[in-house]
Amino acid sequence: MVRVSYNQKPYRRALMETLARAASPRLRTKRSGRAILAKSPDHPGSLGIAISEAVELAAQRDDTKYALGSVLNHVLMHQTIIGTEAMAQLEMANDYPDVIVGCTAGGSNFAGIAFPFLGAQLRGGKKVRIVAVEPAACPSLTRGRYAYDFGDTAHLTPLTKMHTLGSTFTPPGFHAGGLRYHGMAPLVSHIKELGLIEAVGYQQLQCFEAGVQFARAEGIVPAPEANHAVKGAIDEAIRCREEGRSRTILFNLCGHGHFDMQAYIDYFSGKLVDQDYDEAESSPWRWRDCPR
Ligand SMILES: Cc1ncc(COP(=O)(O)O)c(C=O)c1O
Repeated sequence: MVRVSYNQKPYRRALMETLARAASPRLRTKRSGRAILAKSPDHPGSLGIAISEAVELAAQRDDTKYALGSVLNHVLMHQTIIGTEAMAQLEMANDYPDVIVGCTAGGSNFAGIAFPFLGAQLRGGKKVRIVAVEPAACPSLTRGRYAYDFGDTAHLTPLTKMHTLGSTFTPPGFHAGGLRYHGMAPLVSHIKELGLIEAVGYQQLQCFEAGVQFARAEGIVPAPEANHAVKGAIDEAIRCREEGRSRTILFNLCGHGHFDMQAYIDYFSGKLVDQDYDEAESSPWRWRDCPR
């Protein structure tokens, strides 16, 4: 678990302690965690570093394998069960989306809901507007560079062509920890380049406001990550109202917030602040970092 989330989220931390798991970065991994902590003892960690540490630990043991949870093609394909299921449910309701919204970090839940509909569109079906929502403080799709980069900070993973803020970029500690990732799935990046999807970045306060509005209407508390999709869907609904048009908006509520109630407590007590993306922080990205 990434250290900044470990410190921010007491119930997730309790879960990790129950499972006897530690926060990342940690001293146990020589090439990734220890090297980073030697330079920066209070490093908050990042998903890129956590991946490096997991790969490094797995590589040391014959009985351990590492499977990436997002980004790669096969993960996105498995997630398309979400969109396939949504398609079947909408068919039962005799409906079809005009707009699809999902939040994005590595891209898996977004691709999961969007790709089946995009596939149908590319095979001659109805055109759907597809909107990826990312945190403004970690905006790989909207402000990243489309280039070959590593999926992890210590460069133990293969290079992939994707939108990236740089594999050594450490996103600021906003509460949607699952969206604090420097890169984007190559397939999602590719369709963004083809103009098949749109992308937008939102700040955390407006996302929490949307999440609270949703919770009070639906009785479901979304995860801070999912609040980005909720905000995107609400904005689309407002657009419909302003244009006087009725549209079917499908969005992915990709997780509940039951382990993230500290984030809501911080939001209600005014402790959460918006954070900007600092382009200068991405400067360590250099072609010469790539292995020959
Ligand atoms: C609830 C939730 N939603 C979304 C994400 C983002 O990942 P992806 O873009 O791969 O769906 C995460 C990542 O941990 C998450 O926990």
